[in-house]
Amino acid sequence: MAYTIAVAGKGGTGKTTVSSLVLAHLLDTDRTPVLTIDADPNTNLNEWLGIELATTVGDLQAEALGRDNIPAGMDKRRYLQYQMQMCLMEHQGFDLLAMGRGEGPGCYCSVNDILRSFMDELMPNYDYVVMDNEAGMEHLSRRTTRDVDLLLIVSDDNPVGIRSAGRIYQLQEKLEVHVERSYLVLNRVRGELSDLARQEVQNTGLQVIQQLPYDEEIVEYSLQGHSLLDLPADSPTRAALGSALDKVLK
Ligand SMILES: Nc1ncnc2c1ncn2[C@@H]1O[C@H](COP(=O)(O)OP(=O)(O)OP(=O)(O)O)[C@@H](O)[C@H]1O
Ligand SMILES: [Mg+2]
Repeated sequence: MAYTIAVAGKGGTGKTTVSSLVLAHLLDTDRTPVLTIDADPNTNLNEWLGIELATTVGDLQAEALGRDNIPAGMDKRRYLQYQMQMCLMEHQGFDLLAMGRGEGPGCYCSVNDILRSFMDELMPNYDYVVMDNEAGMEHLSRRTTRDVDLLLIVSDDNPVGIRSAGRIYQLQEKLEVHVERSYLVLNRVRGELSDLARQEVQNTGLQVIQQLPYDEEIVEYSLQGHSLLDLPADSPTRAALGSALDKVLK
């Protein structure tokens, strides 16, 4: 069964960056094959990985709903499953699937059911699954029934941001998806944490898996559109997250 790592957190805190670095570490340590899922409707994980986007599952859902010209001899479920397979972007050691926007007017229930079963059949083909989510995981919980082994909630070092990471942690307990272990990732930390920030971390009830520094190299990579998979292995942020993950993944 694939070990599933989900990344959540408030907008702009570094979820996609952390997801990319988690993938980089899994590839570095031969923990492959990995299925990488961009579950944020604002699809952009592919950019952080330097990959051109293929069709998103959401595009496909929208198209499938308006379509009655399914090839003769193929039922709708089989046809959709085949199309979903085409959304998988295959790379060395990992595949990427972008969910895109699936919601909209009208009932998507039947298509969502097909997607769920597609995801449930797909995931066991991988050793690891990494999911980049929107703030919470509501979107995700509509699309898969798989459990999450490791939830990384990302926040910057702002006390208010840390408090909202705590709220995301509480929210996830109400979702259908079962989460085995949750940690806080403090990202873009400049200098020492303030006392207020420390207090807020305590209030979340979450353990900090790693504090990641504000890293000019990451800013540069994102400005230049370089893949974060190409960050040097001794980059302080990549190395720090990698060794923290090793302790948890063993
Ligand atoms: N450790 C870091 N040091 C410096 N800049 C960082 C760091 N982590 C992320 N960033 C930058 O912060 C910005 C937001 O990061 P990212 O896109 O990963 O956040 P996000 O939570 O996925 O955002 P969104 O909610 O829009 O999906 C990016 O420009 C990224 O390059
Ligand atoms: Mg993002």
